[in-house]
Amino acid sequence: SRSIITVIGSLNADLITRTSRIPSPGETLTSSSFSIGCGGKGANQAVACVRLSRPKKRDARLKASHDDAAASILVRMEGAVGDDAFGQSLIGALEGDGIDVSGVQVRRDGGTGVAVILVVEGSGENRILLSPGANATLRPEAFGSLATPVPDLLVVQLEIPLDTVLATLRAAAACSPPVPVLFNPAPAAATLPQWAYEMVEHLVVNETEAAILYGASEEHVRSNLSQVGKEFQRRGARNVVITLGKSGSWFTSGSGEDGQQVVAAARADVVDTTGAGDTFIGAYAVSVVQQRREGGRFSIRSAVEWANRAAAKAVEREGAMESIPWLDEV
Ligand code: RIB
Ligand code: NA
Repeated sequence: SRSIITVIGSLNADLITRTSRIPSPGETLTSSSFSIGCGGKGANQAVACVRLSRPKKRDARLKASHDDAAASILVRMEGAVGDDAFGQSLIGALEGDGIDVSGVQVRRDGGTGVAVILVVEGSGENRILLSPGANATLRPEAFGSLATPVPDLLVVQLEIPLDTVLATLRAAAACSPPVPVLFNPAPAAATLPQWAYEMVEHLVVNETEAAILYGASEEHVRSNLSQVGKEFQRRGARNVVITLGKSGSWFTSGSGEDGQQVVAAARADVVDTTGAGDTFIGAYAVSVVQQRREGGRFSIRSAVEWANRAAAKAVEREGAMESIPWLDEV
């Protein structure tokens, strides 16, 4: 039988400009390049789930074993795009990667979400201005229950309305048995109700998101990871991962068996960090589902190590979705 990962979230067209520096107020700068790509945290994470469970190259030896793995994980995307060219190319891109897009709605009352992304050369860091468009039309009423067949893992972020995300958490918890949720609260909302944490099996945040949710500075988070992780667990999350960019990722396991620690980042020549966080989530999700298929207890350490390696590949390439590596590239 197949395992199903459902991703409910955003789909965006990414308008990406590369620049040597951010323009000052009133200043016009000439960019060094411009491109349009597919993105959105939801869509990127769905693509990462697929690519990190199957090889791109059809190497004969790899093929047999990995095709089994590929056939064993089905990825379903639920979200909304506008009735426009951006929407069409997003649906085409997801379909091209083998994602079930039957849950992606095409709206007449809003254009496809657009992310204007500035990438600073050298650091590869980005600044993103998001226009949600059709993503904002996803209403909680439509997610009162999860679509069947019920998934083995639900992955959600915060680029769709918070009420809608909360509805999906409730719907996952109402299944019997409850569907485990991987929640990536990005971009971070100032507050989440405490009950929301209780529905989260895997909470994955970066330092910025951890700081906002915890209510302290990023510096404080960085030097008090264990305190911050414990607080998220006190609120109800089981496994907690705080990603630390080039410093790696910190985790604490729900079972306590893996303890807590920082896993160093894999070495990378940074070109563009866009999409790295989403790649981490997809890799982690695949590891969760594969470990469950294999039986035995969940090792958060191996999920994080693998996700770190996958994310390091994504920072070495330009763009968001297009930078997400396949299994045989990690
Ligand atoms: O996480 C990266 C994504 O966030 C980009 O693809 C862009 O759409 C932004 O919303
Ligand atoms: Na990238």
